[in-house]
Amino acid sequence: SMPKAPAMKTADDFISPDVLDRLDSAEAEAILTELAELISHYDRLYHNSSEERQALLPDSEYDRLVALNSLIEKKFPALIRPDSPSQRVGSAVTEQFGKIEHTLPMLSLSNAFSDEDVADFVERIKRFLSLSADAELRFTAEPKIDGLSLSLRYEHGKLVTGATRGDGQIGEDITANVRTIADIPHRIETDHEVIEIRGEVYMSRSDFEILNADQQREGGKKFANPRNAAAGSLRQKDPRITAGRPLRFFAYASGYLSQPLGSCHSEFLSWAEAAGFAVNPLTKICSSPSEMLSHYQLIASQRQELDYEIDGVVYKADRYDYQDRLGQVSRAPRWAIAHKFPAEQAVTIIEEIDIQVGRTGALTPVARLKPVQVGGVTVSNATLHNEDEIRRKDIRIGDMVVVQRAGDVIPQIVRVMEAERSGNEQNFIFPAECPVCSSPALRPEGEAVRRCSGGFSCSAQSVERLKHFVSRNAFDIDGLGDKQIELFYSLGWIEYPSDIFSLTTRRDEIAALSGMGDKSADKLIAAIEMRRHIELEKLIFGLGIRQIGEATAKLIAQRYPDLSLLTQMAQDAQDRDTSAYAELISIDQIGASVADDLLNFLNRAENQLELQKLATILTIIAPEQPQQDSVLSGKTIVFTGTLTTVSRNEAKAQAERLGAKVSGSVSGKTDFLVAGADAGSKAAKAQALGVEILSEEAYLALISQNSTS
Ligand code: IVH
Repeated sequence: SMPKAPAMKTADDFISPDVLDRLDSAEAEAILTELAELISHYDRLYHNSSEERQALLPDSEYDRLVALNSLIEKKFPALIRPDSPSQRVGSAVTEQFGKIEHTLPMLSLSNAFSDEDVADFVERIKRFLSLSADAELRFTAEPKIDGLSLSLRYEHGKLVTGATRGDGQIGEDITANVRTIADIPHRIETDHEVIEIRGEVYMSRSDFEILNADQQREGGKKFANPRNAAAGSLRQKDPRITAGRPLRFFAYASGYLSQPLGSCHSEFLSWAEAAGFAVNPLTKICSSPSEMLSHYQLIASQRQELDYEIDGVVYKADRYDYQDRLGQVSRAPRWAIAHKFPAEQAVTIIEEIDIQVGRTGALTPVARLKPVQVGGVTVSNATLHNEDEIRRKDIRIGDMVVVQRAGDVIPQIVRVMEAERSGNEQNFIFPAECPVCSSPALRPEGEAVRRCSGGFSCSAQSVERLKHFVSRNAFDIDGLGDKQIELFYSLGWIEYPSDIFSLTTRRDEIAALSGMGDKSADKLIAAIEMRRHIELEKLIFGLGIRQIGEATAKLIAQRYPDLSLLTQMAQDAQDRDTSAYAELISIDQIGASVADDLLNFLNRAENQLELQKLATILTIIAPEQPQQDSVLSGKTIVFTGTLTTVSRNEAKAQAERLGAKVSGSVSGKTDFLVAGADAGSKAAKAQALGVEILSEEAYLALISQNSTS
C-alpha cells in the first residue's frame, strides 16, 4: 500500500510571492524540508502510476511546487538539501521489468514560463559561451510532446533494447513492448556500431478516444487522458496487449553514438527522418529570441487542432559543440529549456455556490472560488451546470477542487480533492424557488435543468433577454453592455426588447447618468439608430428562443424570409397534422423539440405583440437566398487546415451562398472535405469514411464551374 501522504498543500499555501523577499533562513529551511517530502511523495506516485498522481494533483500544481522549491533554493543556495527535487530526476524503478543502465543519463528539462524567461535563457547561454549579445545563435524550437520518454539502442543497425527513463540513470527494459510500436523501425540502414535514439512515446487524441470507447464496451478500465493511456499501454507485462494499443513515437534526440551523426541537432533530426523515424513537423530553426517566441505562438495557436497533446515548446541550442561546452546543471542540460504553456488547471477552494437565472429561466449553479491563476487569467467563478452535476461530482461548499479552463471555455470544476476534506464542508441544497422572483422553479421529468416559472414577470429573465438581444451576434449595439442594460432596466426605461429603441427619446436623461455625458449618450443613440435596419436572422436569433442558435435562426430566416410569413406559419403549424408543421420540421436541423420551442414562443400572446411592435419599429432585411443550382447546392462540406486564398470565414460564407451546408465535423453525411495545408485528424477521418477530399485548388476549380459570385 502507499505510504501515508503528507498533508496536501498547494504552492500558495507555502508562501505568497510577495513574502518571498522577507523570508528568513529558518523559514526557508522549514519550507524546503516540507517541499522535499511532498514532492518526492508525488514523484513516487507518478512513477508507480501516473493516473494515481494525476488523480491527486494536476501537473501544473506539481510544477508550481517544484518552481517554488527552486526559487527558494536560488535565494538560499546553502540550504539546498541532498534530497531536494532539484537534485534528482524521477524516482526508483519498480520490480516489474528488467533494468537497463543508460549509457548516457536521460536528462530532464528546466522550464520557462514567460517570454522573459526565454530571453534570460538565451542571454545566459551567450554569456556562458562568451558570445557578444548581438551574435547570432541558432536554436531549434519543437513541441514538447506530452507522453513518455524512451531510449532505443541500435547495434549494427538492429534494434536491441528499448528502455524507459526510470530515474534517469537506470530505466526499465521494455524492449518486447517497444518492438510492437509501428513508428519504431526494427532495423536502420547504417554503418554505426551503436546508435541510441531518444524520443517520446505518445497516443493520439483520436486513438485515445477510440481506445476508451473500446475499454468501456468491454468493461475495461478507462484512461484519464492520452498520456496515461500511453503509459498504461507501454508498461504491460504481455507485449500482445501493447501490440493492440495504438502507440506512436517522435524521435527528438540522440543518446550514445559510436560516431557522430552530424554536427548539430537539426542535422541529427534530418538524419533521423531519413532513417525512418517520425520527427515532429513543427520543428523550426530560429536565429533569435523573437523568432523562438513567434514559433511558440504559432505552435500554441495550433495546439487545439493537433491530434496529440503537447504542453510546451522545447528550445535547444543547435550546435553540438556548444551543447558540449554548456553541459548540464544538476539533471538538466544548460543548452535546452521547455517553454511551458500556461497551466490550464489549478487548485482552489469553493467559497460559495450561487444560483444564476438565465434568459430562458434556467437555474444554473455557479461556484464562487477563491481567486486562482489558470492559463494566465484569474478565475473566481466556475459553472456547476446543474443539480445532477453537483451530486455526481459530490461538490460541497468549502471543498478543495481542481479547476480547469481551456481557451475561451467557461471554467469548470474537474474534481473534488476528497482527501482534503475536513468534515466542515456543506452540502448545497438546490432551491425549489427562483432566487430572484420566488416563483416556483420546476424541473420537468427527464430534463436536467430546473427553470424559474416566472416567465417575463421574473426580472432576471427579462434582463438576460435584453442582454442577449443587444449582444454581438444579435443586434450588436455598441455601448450597451451588461451594466447599462441592468441600469436602464432598474430605472424602468426598458423591459421588452422593443423598448431599446425608445431609449433614443431619453437622450438628456442618459447624458445625465454618472459615467455617461453628452458624447457617450449621443454615441449610444447613434448606435441604436443604426440597428433599426436589421437582418431577419439576427432578429430571430436575438429573440432568445430556447434551442434557436445562430445557425438555426439563419435556416428559419431562409425558409420564412419575412416576419409575417413566420408568424403565419406559427399559427398554421399549431396543429401538428398540417403541411405547415411538416414543412417546418423538414428544415435541416429542426426536429420536433426545436419546433416545439419555436412554436411555443411565437404563439404566446405577449410575444406576438412584441413582434408586431418590432415589425413597425424596424426595417427587416430578408436573407440572401442560397443558389439552387450550383455544384454545392444541398451538399454538406467541411473545411480543415489552413486555406491560402481566403479566410475560413469567407470560404464558409461563399460556400453557403452557393447553397452548401458548412459543418465543423466530418461524418457519414459529409459530401466534401476541403483540406488546406496541415490538415490533421479531420482529413484522416474523411479518408476512413470514404468522404471525397478536395485540395484547396481542386475546390476552387470546382466552384468556379458554375458559381455566379
Ligand atoms: S529533449 C536533454 N525534446 O520532456 C533533453 N524532450 O522534461 C532531453 N519531451 O523527459 C529532452 N518532447 O520526455 C525533449 N521535443 C522534446 C520533447 C521532450 C517531450 C519530454 C521528455 C523529457 C521531458 C523533459
